[in-house]
Amino acid sequence: MNIEASHHQSLRQLIATRKARVAVVGLGYVGLPLALTAHDEGFDTTGIDLDPERVNKVNQGDQVISYLAPGRIARAVDSGRFRATQDSAALAEADIVLICVPTPLTEAQEPDMRYVTAAAETIARHLRPGQLVVLESSVWPGATSTLVRPILETGALRAGADFFLGFSPEREDPGNDKFDTHTIPKVVGADDPLSLQLVEDFYRAIVTQAVPVSSAATAEAVKLVENSFRTVNIALVNELKTALEAMDVDVWEVIQAASTKPFGFMPFYPGPGIGGACIPVSPAYLSWRAIEAGSATPIIDLARTSNDAVPAALAARIATELIARNGSSAPAESQPLAGYKILLMGIAYKRDVEDTRRSPALVLLGELERLGAEVDYHDPYFPRLPEGGEFPTLAGRQSVALTAESLGRYEAVAIITDHSAPDYDLIAREAALIFDTRNVFEKAGIKVTGGRLVKV
Ligand SMILES: NC(=O)c1ccc[n+]([C@@H]2O[C@H](COP(=O)([O-])OP(=O)(O)OC[C@H]3O[C@@H](n4cnc5c(N)ncnc54)[C@H](O)[C@@H]3O)[C@@H](O)[C@H]2O)c1
Repeated sequence: MNIEASHHQSLRQLIATRKARVAVVGLGYVGLPLALTAHDEGFDTTGIDLDPERVNKVNQGDQVISYLAPGRIARAVDSGRFRATQDSAALAEADIVLICVPTPLTEAQEPDMRYVTAAAETIARHLRPGQLVVLESSVWPGATSTLVRPILETGALRAGADFFLGFSPEREDPGNDKFDTHTIPKVVGADDPLSLQLVEDFYRAIVTQAVPVSSAATAEAVKLVENSFRTVNIALVNELKTALEAMDVDVWEVIQAASTKPFGFMPFYPGPGIGGACIPVSPAYLSWRAIEAGSATPIIDLARTSNDAVPAALAARIATELIARNGSSAPAESQPLAGYKILLMGIAYKRDVEDTRRSPALVLLGELERLGAEVDYHDPYFPRLPEGGEFPTLAGRQSVALTAESLGRYEAVAIITDHSAPDYDLIAREAALIFDTRNVFEKAGIKVTGGRLVKV
């Protein structure tokens, strides 16, 4: 047996017997659930993160991600087969290394591959024959083979022969209580057959279904296509909302009825704009790479521009409605909402998660303040807005308690993020005017009795 076949055989064996040791680089929203899943399926797992606070909290079993099952992290730590560390030397001990570091955008809205490059450089320093490295971060098609592979090959080891390399896109959906890391099918791709078989073997061992594709670039494209599909459809449904409203037709009712078609239609819902580290970002990776490859993605680009414009349009709509009802005592035209107090419900970028990355709620808050309003927020996940976020001027703001008395202080309450915890019955009774971007009240059958409801 040649040397690559023997490395391949022994790693297959280690995976089959759950003796392979797994290292996950980056213990964020993606890496931590993945590391826990590898552990839960029987693998000795080490999570490596640069952030000492994250490492300490994980090792103490703290509930650092609210929607993970209570006690799951603590149970993993107690098992003795799961740990977090800042020390990258742990990479040398691992048989399988999974990279889950951020892939944001630069200021110029282009792929920021700094974290992937840095992680690959660290892995390269510890790389040893027989290891399998899998990139999970969302990247442009070609990044694994043209960016990560050359870094890993700076020493004497070669991918597909001395070590193995693949890509498997993350499909984590924070807060989704129907699917989790274990039950979401996993697409796997690699550029050589030995690597592909190992990536497939490993994911088959930890998730219910692995879906092999012919190359790493194909697997990378799968992720960007999934997110671009969402981006375009969200832009479309927000456009439809505005157009149908002008015709006095309720888009929510239309979507509900259209969803009864058993084929060819998939419901998307209007909202206050898109957020998170994923949907607003991945399509930009695809557009950037398309231009580099001599092509273009005008539909995706238009959808991105359209989605980015939603929070400002919503602020303008709220201003128009408020002024039409109550008039404006604004000293300047640029501040038509001077004197108005508005409460935003939900500041996280989506329901039931403690994540404000690229949250449209924060953009809206800034816009309403620019128009002169005094804006407060209520969000059970953010008693206080943290320092060091993307919106530094908002750091330190505190969530307002939801009471009949506090609700009485605002000219309007706007439902932005439809967390499940707040008492919407109370809002329905006490708020003077409600702007509902999520159709919360109608969906839950809550009758608004205190003031007026405007679906925006
Ligand atoms: N959050 C999601 O819902 C989601 C869903 C699908 C895909 N993704 C993709 O998954 C990737 C990771 O996203 P995330 O949301 O988990 O990010 P995150 O910011 O929550 O976590 C990333 C972690 O990596 C750590 N880190 C950064 N560089 C490191 C390094 N060199 N070594 C060790 N640790 C390092 C950070 O300290 C942080 O804890 C991104 O490419 C993202 O686009 C995210």
